[in-house]
Amino acid sequence: MKETVIRGNEMELLFAPLEGVTGYIYRNAHHKYYPGVVSTYYAPFISPAKEKSMTPRELRDIVPHNNDGCVVPQILTNNADYFSKCARKLCDMGYREINLNLGCPSGTVVAKGKGAGMLADLDTLDAFLETVFEAAKSEPYRISVKTRIGKTDPDEFYELLPIFNRYPIEKLIVHPRIQKEFYKNKPRMTYVEYALNNSALNIIYNGDLTNDADLKQIHKLYQQNNKEISPVMIGRGLLMKPYGFADDNVDYDKLRAFHDELLMGYREIMSGDKNTLYRMKELWTYLIASFPDADKMAKQIRKCESMESYNRIVDALFGGMK
Ligand SMILES: Cc1cc2nc3c(=O)[nH]c(=O)nc-3n(C[C@H](O)[C@H](O)[C@H](O)COP(=O)(O)O)c2cc1C
Repeated sequence: MKETVIRGNEMELLFAPLEGVTGYIYRNAHHKYYPGVVSTYYAPFISPAKEKSMTPRELRDIVPHNNDGCVVPQILTNNADYFSKCARKLCDMGYREINLNLGCPSGTVVAKGKGAGMLADLDTLDAFLETVFEAAKSEPYRISVKTRIGKTDPDEFYELLPIFNRYPIEKLIVHPRIQKEFYKNKPRMTYVEYALNNSALNIIYNGDLTNDADLKQIHKLYQQNNKEISPVMIGRGLLMKPYGFADDNVDYDKLRAFHDELLMGYREIMSGDKNTLYRMKELWTYLIASFPDADKMAKQIRKCESMESYNRIVDALFGGMK
């Protein structure tokens, strides 16, 4: 395939799910202020239980009337029956792609054999996939999968991929780290390359993309392996730069409006300033990357204890960018 020159802003971006951060308030504010930066928002996981497919909080996050952009719901479970029931409910709401979480590295999730914990037992994983894809045959929804490359050893991927290849997975989103790394170390690109050459599935790359050069590199990797240009999934990079990677001239007025919309949204749905501040502080651990030399301000935000002082610091931070 001939190599073409591409700017990162020509690539389709998918917003990764980030539990506790990219709930519907965030997704809607992002869609309002930065429409077109991503094509799709993958929502943080729903964890179905025996009695109920979703909690009231999970339902509120995913109901179509609370969601403005194009959203794909995600399910975290190792129970095929719970998955299919929950997927059916989401399908009834109008969703046509349902994502399966095989990547969550959290200790409590993995201990229950869910998320990346499912990668440890190939037979159980295969049986799970067989059941959920069989159930989906008579349904209008398609199943995509978001996975790590293994639990304890990256070479587990060589056995995982043939299993995935047996199913009509809509998209196989690969975060090339193993469970026990959480977000440490560098993504292992050789395994992505392996997937590109050993699977007919639609392989979507996810991990550590934070600028235009990173996007170009992924594009190059696909080209070198004779693959068409593909969307990529980005999480933290977009929390740092919600306006995308194409433009270095940040519009701080717009970023401020986006911030204010988030703050207002959280104040409306959360009980008390303490919870709202907690949310905003987590957001700032990423967003501060849009402000050069702001270490001192970042620390002030981290330490502030009232909405008044929070607002004062944020005013000063944005004021300094004028
Ligand atoms: C705070 C946080 C919450 C996350 N929640 C989810 C989640 O609900 N579902 C999921 O599949 N991945 C989740 N992830 C993983 C991200 O979707 C993504 O795979 C990871 O951050 C790597 O991509 P990035 O380097 O572009 O951020 C989470 C990651 C973080 C840091």
